[in-house]
Amino acid sequence: MHIHIISIVPELLDSPLNHSIMKRAKEKGLLTVTVHHLRKWAVNEYGQVDDYQYGGGAGMVMMCEPLEKAILELQQEKKFDEIIYLTPDGVTLKQQTANRLSLKENLLLICGHYKGIDERIRQHYVTMEISIGDYVLSGGELAAAVLVDAIGRIIPGVLNDETSALTDSFQDHLLAPPVYTRPADYNGWKIPDILLSGDLKKIEEWRHEQAVQRTKERRPDLLDE
Ligand code: ADE
Repeated sequence: MHIHIISIVPELLDSPLNHSIMKRAKEKGLLTVTVHHLRKWAVNEYGQVDDYQYGGGAGMVMMCEPLEKAILELQQEKKFDEIIYLTPDGVTLKQQTANRLSLKENLLLICGHYKGIDERIRQHYVTMEISIGDYVLSGGELAAAVLVDAIGRIIPGVLNDETSALTDSFQDHLLAPPVYTRPADYNGWKIPDILLSGDLKKIEEWRHEQAVQRTKERRPDLLDE
C-alpha cells in the first residue's frame, strides 16, 4: 500500500511512523508513506498556503490553489482509491473503516490546520472525511498518524500469527479479554486457574466470556452494533 500525506508540518509525522510495527510494514515492502510539504505548491514566494476567511472571524483557512495543485500533481503519478481529509467534523474512525482501508492500494491524506481547508476542496476532491474522536487537535498530522497506524498494522502480511490482529479489541464488536504473563503468582496475585489447565477449548470459551463481560461493563454500545 502507498500512502501519501499532504501537510504543512511534515516533521510531526517523522517519528510515529518509523518505529515498531510501521517500521516492520515498511521493511517488508508492504507499506510506503510519503509526506509532501504543502508549501511546495504555495501561491507566492513567501510560502503562503492560507488566507483570511470570507465573512470575517478569527482563524485562517487553507486555500484552494495549493491543495488543488498538490492533489493534481500527485494524481498524475497514481490514481488514489480515497482522498481522505482528517477533520474533527468527519466520521469517527472505527475498526471496520480501518479494516476496509487496509485493503486499498493508494491513499491520499490531507492534514488541515487553523480553521481547516476551503470547503470547495472538500466538495470537489475529498472522498472521505475522518475524525479520530470528539476533540480538536491543533492539526490533522497526529490524526493522520493514528489512521496510518490503524491501517498499516492490519495490512495483510504485516503482523505474524503471534501479533495477529484477529483477537484485537473491536475486531468482532467485543473488547479484548484480560491477558497475563509469567509468573503465575506475583506477590500472591494469582492468574485464573483455567489458564493453567491446558484445555484450549475451555480457555477459548473463558476468553470469550470475559470479552463479553468486559464489553457489557465498559462499552455496552458495541453489543448493539
Ligand atoms: N484535526 C483536528 N482535530 C482532529 C480530529 N479530532 N480528528 C481528525 N482530524 C483532526
